[in-house]
Amino acid sequence: MKIGLAADHAGYESKKKIREVLEEKGYEVIDYGTDTNDSVDYPDFAKALAKGIQNGEVERGIALCGTGIGISISLNRHKNIRAALCQTEFEARAARQHNNANVLCMGARVLGEGVMFSLIDAYLSTEFEGGRHQRRVEKIEC
Ligand code: RB5
Repeated sequence: MKIGLAADHAGYESKKKIREVLEEKGYEVIDYGTDTNDSVDYPDFAKALAKGIQNGEVERGIALCGTGIGISISLNRHKNIRAALCQTEFEARAARQHNNANVLCMGARVLGEGVMFSLIDAYLSTEFEGGRHQRRVEKIEC
């Protein structure tokens, strides 16, 4: 599975660590930035990741900003993007099972590293359940 990463400056350090760990685990990763600690605008990186998912360059994404709020709001403005802001493993699993979320968003200033990786594991290892959830997910696009 190809995974796209995106973050603003507040999520940059966590993104770097996430990239290392995912690559060690054998995932192919495309990093849509940002690439430094300099202050940037999260919608720019949300847009780059959204495009990567829309054009099939990556299948799923992981996105970070300070709270996870700005980048998740931005991602969800893009067609066919279902970005779930999660703080618990339960939410990360349900976001896949029920919502077929294609981006996991997290707040780098909210969550510790251990929690982030437990969410990532849950998100990447859980499949969409389809069935009644398929109909609901289809109704999201207007
Ligand atoms: C950047 O300071 C911060 O506003 C941003 O990372 C994010 O938390 C916005 O939602």
